Amino acid sequence: MERAWWKEAVVYQIYPRSFMDSNGDGIGDLKGITSRLDYLKELGVDVIWLSPVYQSPNDDNGYDISDYQNILEEFGTMEDFDEMLAAAHEYGIRIVMDLVVNHTSDEHKWFVESRKGINNPYRDYYIWRNGKDGNEPPNNWGSCFSGSAWEYDNATDMYYLHLFSPKQPDLNWDNEKVRESIFSMMDWWCRKGIDGFRMDVISMISKTKEMPNGKVADGRLYGDFSPYCVHGPNVHRYLKEMNEKVLSRYNLMTVGETAGVTVEEAKRYAGKDEHELNMVFQFEHVDIGNINGKWNKNPVPLVELKRIMSKWQTELEGKAWNSLYFSNHDQPRAVSRFGNDSEEHRDRSAKMLATCLHMMQGTPYIYQGEELGMTNRQFEDISQFRDIESLNAYHDLVEVMHSMDKEEMLSCLQYKSRDNARTPMQWDDSMNAGFTTGKPWIGVNPNYKKINAKEQVANPSSVFHYYKKLIALRKKYPIIVYGLYELLLPDDPNLYVYRRALDIEQMLVICNFTKELQAVTMPEVFEKNGCEVLISNYGRDNGKIQELYPYEALVLYYKSEV
Ligand code: GLC
Ligand code: CA
Repeated sequence: MERAWWKEAVVYQIYPRSFMDSNGDGIGDLKGITSRLDYLKELGVDVIWLSPVYQSPNDDNGYDISDYQNILEEFGTMEDFDEMLAAAHEYGIRIVMDLVVNHTSDEHKWFVESRKGINNPYRDYYIWRNGKDGNEPPNNWGSCFSGSAWEYDNATDMYYLHLFSPKQPDLNWDNEKVRESIFSMMDWWCRKGIDGFRMDVISMISKTKEMPNGKVADGRLYGDFSPYCVHGPNVHRYLKEMNEKVLSRYNLMTVGETAGVTVEEAKRYAGKDEHELNMVFQFEHVDIGNINGKWNKNPVPLVELKRIMSKWQTELEGKAWNSLYFSNHDQPRAVSRFGNDSEEHRDRSAKMLATCLHMMQGTPYIYQGEELGMTNRQFEDISQFRDIESLNAYHDLVEVMHSMDKEEMLSCLQYKSRDNARTPMQWDDSMNAGFTTGKPWIGVNPNYKKINAKEQVANPSSVFHYYKKLIALRKKYPIIVYGLYELLLPDDPNLYVYRRALDIEQMLVICNFTKELQAVTMPEVFEKNGCEVLISNYGRDNGKIQELYPYEALVLYYKSEV
């Protein structure tokens, strides 16, 4: 397989608002990030994916951008950015920017112009339609953040499309000038020396010309836009154009956020000869249990998780490249969702999950705090939430439609809300977890006295040091990056066991996803002398085992004689 730096890299995602506050206003900022680069260096990550730091009215925490070439004042200045970039590079850490170009903020100058009149030169930068039957939206599509996907605009008596909030109007990628403006903005960042892009909802940039009503699922008010907006007619043409005009001219890492992506589609976005992106984020494993939308407390059956992860591992083999993740700023905390965040099992199950993910083929992504085994926050009252998706869903389901009662929705939010991932990074056991000297913009998780970076950096058996070791192993053993993947025991509901192979090397990864002891029969070669334990969350030193401890993870390595 062709080697590439971005295949061998480990990425760390920073959500700037919640990472580190340098000036006591309760909001994380760029200087805060710069001050903590030594921590990331110690962890050993190669790349930072920086969630948006651009100018934004913050309707969706920076995913609504009003100026792509300026920094949000709360986060600092362009000078602070340049300093952070230079300091990161000095540490050998690359910076990948979040690129949010499916939509802008309604406060972006393009949209301010666009809404002025139908002859405005920017009119066609966005997607405008006449209403239906006088005062109805053009069709029944619902937005991802509740309500209609269309917003009426007085000035011209027309509607604009917003697949997210009304403050996030969708750009019209069919307009060549839009594409040129975006490509030149991207080029500007590349010339500054950034190292890549994570592309926000990039699978939605191309829409069909016809926009008929979508299917309305049971219990819903609005229709589904996805057949008309996800993997739309020109998405691959536009990405190839972007690749030719910008991406291919620099040494970048690119990853597309592609909700709704199938293996077949992924091979088009990230196929090695397609000249589009390096890799995509798929959603099948994090969407397990979402039968009728996101707001449920359904558990994650292991057999299903294994089936999905393994499908992506084997079907992209040699054709495209996987991104590996259990968490990000849109997902609840991995240990709370896939592991066990009780006092007894949190540490072990966080290490087990990390092992399971980081020993696969692909590029691993760590979300800030995941390397400490940070947990869901369990906010008790809706007033403590900040996320637009959570607040709108609560309003809709509890207050408007009465399809869920307050307690039920709160417990779904405690399990699934994006705010679980957005509570401040837990640096130490001082006030506000050392994140800020002021009042944090969102409540700190009260468990920071026990779970924090300072304690874990000092403690060689911590989750932090375990991650550090996983990252170091990936650097040392090419089999971890490039080896073939094979799932063993597909139907076992308790154990996740897989084998990796590269030439004369073999690796076995065994993870117990339960809090019980589990019997296991080892494949013979791994019981031999000469078989090495690469990592174990119970301090094992050989592969002669019959039983796995609760949430045990073990990685064995064997090289046959030639
Ligand atoms: C992506 C982002 C999410 C944001 C949405 C709209 O899914 O990850 O945080 O709300 O796009 O930009
Ligand atoms: Ca600040």
